[in-house]
Amino acid sequence: MDAILVETKQFDYLTLIAIEAALEAGDILRKGFGSHLTISSKEGKHNLVTQYDTLSEKAIIELLRSHVPSSHFLAEESGASGAKGDFLWIIDPLDGTVNFAHQIPFFSVSVALEQKGQILCGVIYHPLQQELFVAERGKGAFLNGVSLRVSPVSQIDQSILATGFPYNLATNPYHCIEHFIDIMKLGIPVRRLGSAALDLAYTAAGRFEGFFEVGLSPWDCAAGVLLIEEAGGKVTSWNQSPFSVHSKKPILATNGLIHQAASAILSRSVP
Ligand code: IPD
Ligand code: CA
Ligand code: CA
Repeated sequence: MDAILVETKQFDYLTLIAIEAALEAGDILRKGFGSHLTISSKEGKHNLVTQYDTLSEKAIIELLRSHVPSSHFLAEESGASGAKGDFLWIIDPLDGTVNFAHQIPFFSVSVALEQKGQILCGVIYHPLQQELFVAERGKGAFLNGVSLRVSPVSQIDQSILATGFPYNLATNPYHCIEHFIDIMKLGIPVRRLGSAALDLAYTAAGRFEGFFEVGLSPWDCAAGVLLIEEAGGKVTSWNQSPFSVHSKKPILATNGLIHQAASAILSRSVP
């Protein structure tokens, strides 16, 4: 763990706090992974929550508040809280709860800091792999201290993409399955790994050429959007209109080079 922290000396104080919070939460999740879980459902039977979502979120908020008492929080489990200060921390304490609950080792912690509508820094941590993705506005994106660039692949038919599906799949108005089928018809590999934050981080790291999903919440994507932009990629809505992490619009995040081609497929109208 120390090795990761030493590499992050180039960052601003607030980014370092976000890193500390994500690492601490990651430790909690790593210890909890595979242990006895108390699992319940929220807003739909497949949208799970465990005691570790709550423990992780409490630890993150306590740590951030202790360093920046005027903080305001938007966190998945506790919603909006804190002072109405300048800084809004956007937190997913466990992205990939379904994986975590089923002992599938693919989940993450996501912490982002927003000020006046602009994401200043974003941290995504995969505790089992000890992969720490960090972006700071204007300073770039990094994986364990090493600078990240998006993939140089320019043809969509040579790409590997990632996606995810909302918990309200059956009623979601965006016809995501029909669009997913359109993408699958390209004959390219498409992965559904179960942590949108990691899907975005992997796209920033050039492991995927792009990621698309409908209906993400701010905590799923705030850190990941900055990672992609700082790694040289592009994030818009499917039809290339501007994307805001608060909008719940369908997100398209790519290396920039396949953006037009992916958008053309995803914004086709479906019958
Ligand atoms: C979910 C994951 C999943 C995505 C869902 C998210 P959660 O977050 O990121 O990959 O497809 O849309 O809600 O519930 O595990 O924090
Ligand atoms: Ca999430
Ligand atoms: Ca979550």
